[in-house]
Amino acid sequence: MPGRLIVFEGVEGCGKTTQIARSQTWLQESGLLTALQNQGEVSRLIVTREPGGTELCQEIRQLLLHPTSQEAMQDRTELLLYAADRAQHVAGFLKPQLAQGALILCDRFTDSTVAYQGYGRGLDRGLIGQLNQIATDGLTSDLTLWLDLEAAVGLARAQSRGMSDRIEQAALSFHQRVQQGFTELAQDHPQRIVQINGDRSETEVFSDIQRVLEKHLQQWYKIPAS
Ligand code: TMP
Repeated sequence: MPGRLIVFEGVEGCGKTTQIARSQTWLQESGLLTALQNQGEVSRLIVTREPGGTELCQEIRQLLLHPTSQEAMQDRTELLLYAADRAQHVAGFLKPQLAQGALILCDRFTDSTVAYQGYGRGLDRGLIGQLNQIATDGLTSDLTLWLDLEAAVGLARAQSRGMSDRIEQAALSFHQRVQQGFTELAQDHPQRIVQINGDRSETEVFSDIQRVLEKHLQQWYKIPAS
């Protein structure tokens, strides 16, 4: 019973977290999850995130997004901390759960490192590819949903929620480069990354996501007739 890893990606304020919660509720309340569990195809549904998917990862997240020190964090330090968080999350949580057949919804994964540390900070993308490989030990997502939204729109949404974290405080031009990164990643990996227009109502965005999820679940599992 191989598990499946579904990742949600996008700039700040793109709506990932809301859409993951809606996807979770839909899978649970439609009876689909129970049916897949009863058929022995899925062990459990898991919602997780990077950074911060385990207890130790929560501590790394705190260091990355809300450090208590005023000392400027070096770009390579930031990159290595995201890689450390991922190594812990993959080996300590994602891989064991996938081995048991979990269906996993993950808020951000390797593409965020390419977009933020590669395009955003300007660090070498070859190096980031190598680090992602080390951190994941080869694990890739089965499907990545990219919520495509202009950086300025997303940042304004994120900032209206209150206190900004260390990354949200970066200049708009940084977030525009991140958005460019996601755009190029989606062009380079059309099989894995599905682009969803995030500049619409929550319900409209979710209806597209639901369609993509249904299509992929049908490919992966024997979906019971409704
Ligand atoms: P979020 O969980 O609220 O999306 O916040 C995570 C922040 O960390 C967000 O600003 C994106 C950033 N990030 C990176 O810069 N690189 C990464 O590899 C990951 C996973 C996240």
